[in-house]
Amino acid sequence: MIVIAIDGPAGSGKSTLARQLANALGFVYLDTGAMYRALALLAQQKGIDPADERALTRLAEAMQIQFRRVDSEQRVLLNGEDVSDTIRHPDIGRLASRISVYSGVRRALVAKQREIAQQVHGLVAEGRDTTTVVFPEAVLKIFLTASPEERARRRQAQLREQGIELTLEEVLREIRERDERDSTRPDSPLRQAEDAVRIENEHLTKEQTLQRVLELYYERVAHSG
Ligand code: DC
Repeated sequence: MIVIAIDGPAGSGKSTLARQLANALGFVYLDTGAMYRALALLAQQKGIDPADERALTRLAEAMQIQFRRVDSEQRVLLNGEDVSDTIRHPDIGRLASRISVYSGVRRALVAKQREIAQQVHGLVAEGRDTTTVVFPEAVLKIFLTASPEERARRRQAQLREQGIELTLEEVLREIRERDERDSTRPDSPLRQAEDAVRIENEHLTKEQTLQRVLELYYERVAHSG
């Protein structure tokens, strides 16, 4: 099993990069954030108190999450239901960030992430702790980032495509809050792994970022093989 792991803050372009990289290499793409989001959605539907760590942990252990390719797009199935679009709502992102601080929740989801990796020959995983905790043995680790302002602009454009209109100030405030919570929690905070390559993609196009990472990957593979 070969793993490429990508971590970075909200709006850094991890999903786009991971998806394109997986396509280019014929690997499976694992969006770990979608798992925290799916759990947040399920908790909301069941009316579980976001402060109830035990109930959330039990829910995380029991939930069935699957990724399926439909018409070259990856869909997220939660207990058999397609929730790909619903989990992208900003409220769900906020709730996902809140409930991801719990160790019980993290343990359950990390186990599911490793299980998925066991079933494939090549994986591109992205999230907040895939380089530091979930896949420490990854052949290539990337820490992808850009300024909060640039990430807010991208997030705003993404949300607009979904028909959600927010001001840049609102999105920026949200991004800063999420950065703060995701990087200061005691269990598996977002941080750059010592052996990760840092890529600041503020002034890079998606294609340039992908090219850079493909080059790094081929260098690693050539040197290890
Ligand atoms: O990448 P995203 O915006 O879809 O992630 C949503 C939230 O889930 C993020 O704010 C924190 C949490 N998360 C996490 O704690 N660990 C991960 N590996 C991925 C996401």
